[in-house]
Amino acid sequence: MSQKPVLGLIGAGKVGQVLMRLLYKADYQIGAIYSRTPPTALAGQVQAIIASDPRDVAAHADLVVIALPDDAIAEVAARVSSVALDGKGVVHTSGAHGVDQLSVLAENGAMTGSLHPAYPFASVEKALTELPGSTFAIEAENNLLAVWLGDIVRALNGSILSIPPGSKALYHAAMTIASNYTVTLYALAQQLLLTLSDEHEAVDGALNALTAATVENLRTQGIPDALTGPLVRGDVSTVAAHLVALEQYDQHAADLYRQLARQTLPMVRARGVATDELENLLGRS
Ligand SMILES: NC(=O)c1ccc[n+]([C@@H]2O[C@H](COP(=O)([O-])OP(=O)(O)OC[C@H]3O[C@@H](n4cnc5c(N)ncnc54)[C@H](OP(=O)(O)O)[C@@H]3O)[C@@H](O)[C@H]2O)c1
Repeated sequence: MSQKPVLGLIGAGKVGQVLMRLLYKADYQIGAIYSRTPPTALAGQVQAIIASDPRDVAAHADLVVIALPDDAIAEVAARVSSVALDGKGVVHTSGAHGVDQLSVLAENGAMTGSLHPAYPFASVEKALTELPGSTFAIEAENNLLAVWLGDIVRALNGSILSIPPGSKALYHAAMTIASNYTVTLYALAQQLLLTLSDEHEAVDGALNALTAATVENLRTQGIPDALTGPLVRGDVSTVAAHLVALEQYDQHAADLYRQLARQTLPMVRARGVATDELENLLGRS
């Protein structure tokens, strides 16, 4: 492990508070914190000074963590870029934005990157116990910064997912598919079931058990073994019946089902099931 950098924080919201409190407990020194509302409680908890300007955070830290709302990052980075940053690291915690948001800082000598905790921060207290052990995506344009960020993730008992600088949009699209669109698919299944029954609780009970078991199968068995259902059984007539039923309900739902089924076929083949008939049924485009 390299020598621990002194940390600074800009943006004392959920992510910033949790990272600083956990890293302080892991023996990191927190030099200074700046936020729109003076972060009095956090500064006391991590023994940091409260900066009155984001530029002062850089003066008191080796590695500045910017945990601002996505839209505020570039503007605050531009303000910080007016101070000397040689040898300092600056990272943001956004999942959506790349390291390019900090390019003004890199032009001014900073090592820039991003550190995205792949964890939903619903509340500070919950995250303080649940964040350790999570995966963190790291983008770093410099080796020393990559080492610092790797050490931070290890201090949080986390796993590192290193991604090349400039690839954040694809990374975030993947996270969005896994997290947000699971909710979309659940909502569609719920709508379909509620056309058959008005027992909302029973419908949610069935879907919650099914999705929880599927996530557990993914965790323990991975792809392609976690896949169950008619495709992997080669039940072509069942899939055909699904399409007829969905087309009567809503053409968009039927089209989505077809697309998802086609996307699933490589996994079906990987399980040793022939897919010719399924391909004919689903279409190849
Ligand atoms: N929430 C998540 O689940 C999650 C997960 C991973 C990554 N992230 C990323 O982490 C970053 C922070 O998210 P968050 O959920 O912690 O946001 P948040 O709870 O809304 O906190 C943002 C903090 O920034 C402060 N702030 C806003 N605009 C400012 C400005 N112009 N200058 C100084 N301070 C300003 C806010 O101050 P006030 O308190 O005064 O409003 C607040 O303390 C985002 O980039 C987000 O994408 C979030």
